[in-house]
Amino acid sequence: MKVVMIGGGYVGLVSGTCFAEFGTNVTCVDVDQSKIDALNAGKIPIYEPGLEDLVEKNTSEGRLVFTTDYKDPISRADLIFIAVGTPTRHGDGHADLKYVYQASKDIAPYLTGYTVIVDKSTVPVGTARNVRRIISEENSRADFDVASNPEFLREGAAISDFMRPDRVILGVESDRAGEMLKQLYQPLNLIETPILLTTLETAELTKYASNAFLATKISFINEISSLCEAVGADVHAVARGMGLDGRIGRKFLHPGPGYGGSCFPKDTKALVRIAQEHGTSSRIVEAVIEVNEAQKARMITKIRKALGDNVSGKKLAVLGLTFKPETDDMRDAPSLAILPKLIEDGAIIQAHDPQGVKEAREQLPDSVQYCENIDDAMKDADAVILMTEWNIYRGLDLGLLKQKLRGNAFIDLRNVYERQQAEEAGFEYFCVGR
Ligand SMILES: NC(=O)c1ccc[n+]([C@@H]2O[C@H](COP(=O)([O-])OP(=O)(O)OC[C@H]3O[C@@H](n4cnc5c(N)ncnc54)[C@H](O)[C@@H]3O)[C@@H](O)[C@H]2O)c1
Repeated sequence: MKVVMIGGGYVGLVSGTCFAEFGTNVTCVDVDQSKIDALNAGKIPIYEPGLEDLVEKNTSEGRLVFTTDYKDPISRADLIFIAVGTPTRHGDGHADLKYVYQASKDIAPYLTGYTVIVDKSTVPVGTARNVRRIISEENSRADFDVASNPEFLREGAAISDFMRPDRVILGVESDRAGEMLKQLYQPLNLIETPILLTTLETAELTKYASNAFLATKISFINEISSLCEAVGADVHAVARGMGLDGRIGRKFLHPGPGYGGSCFPKDTKALVRIAQEHGTSSRIVEAVIEVNEAQKARMITKIRKALGDNVSGKKLAVLGLTFKPETDDMRDAPSLAILPKLIEDGAIIQAHDPQGVKEAREQLPDSVQYCENIDDAMKDADAVILMTEWNIYRGLDLGLLKQKLRGNAFIDLRNVYERQQAEEAGFEYFCVGR
């Protein structure tokens, strides 16, 4: 089978490469010429562990090709995946589908023979049917089915998530499309991955429901962390006590500065909009979004308090900027909400991040000073803020670190360290919910 992946971003590039690794011929098409040029020169435009080697292997073995050309690969494709961005539309919280619909228009004229057009992007209910309508309008002779195959990979662990997923959801409207997709995912049969065949609408909604549920767990434990601080309980012990109950589960019960990234913030907002448009409510998800905003605001208050309610002129060493470790993705990272407020208060930010600096420069105020190494970030700082739990921040020698600072506040927004450990090193320690 010949597969075309429209979009060579976090999802398109990883999915396309992994399908190639399964032995399928894949052409990755992107409108961004610089991205395609970079990929053809062997450079990976994003940071995703393990991706570079896999791209190199599959391109050199001839199964993976990158191009900006639609015509040739589309005309030969059996399956075309649309994996373009669906960011939040300005003003109303709805998913912006302009890239999905543009891609649909662009592929329509070149369809030749029976083809399955698969939405891999996270899209509101009804999108696959709109894609079908657009393609039929553009090319009335096209012989095709649409399908929905939402992606559940996590940045930072994207390859193993794609190769060993918990499940594959296939929303289809014909047996033929279902059979072709099942054949494509057949390598996963060996590891007995559940493959669920559903309708288009069910597949589209399953993705939003899954992300909204995970975001709910995060906001829930963040709200509990606030209560823990008020009553003197330890949120980690509470989370462990909860999570050992198999009905609850241990994952996603770690408190922090609020969820961020390219999915949860936009997908929770989009789910609320989908519900509104269909005349139903999603009050739980609305509250999840509210609690997440409140959590980011609470972190700002926490930092201000740790510095005696006056951050003006204070130097803050910030460790980590991305929304989570092992990615360079800065989309909706909590640091983007927290740091500008502190800068408005007059704080001086000395930041370090292993992979996120390039993106951060574009999104954070110009006054942020980016440091090559952790020591430079610490120089004469009044406080350390641990914003993202990259591995290199997990085993710091706190005694040595303290010597580099002029102040003594350690604000651990990811609860990486123990209070006693930080206090023994001479820090005044602040964390979340303990
Ligand atoms: N990033 C994640 O962790 C993740 C996980 C699961 C699902 N998703 C969903 O997958 C989708 C893609 O997300 P992403 O993070 O990969 O986005 P991204 O912004 O990293 O990549 C999108 C790519 O599509 C390209 N593009 C836009 N219009 C195009 C067109 N008409 N033709 C060809 N290429 C085009 C862009 O140039 C870009 O390279 C979104 O709907 C997202 O919600 C993302």
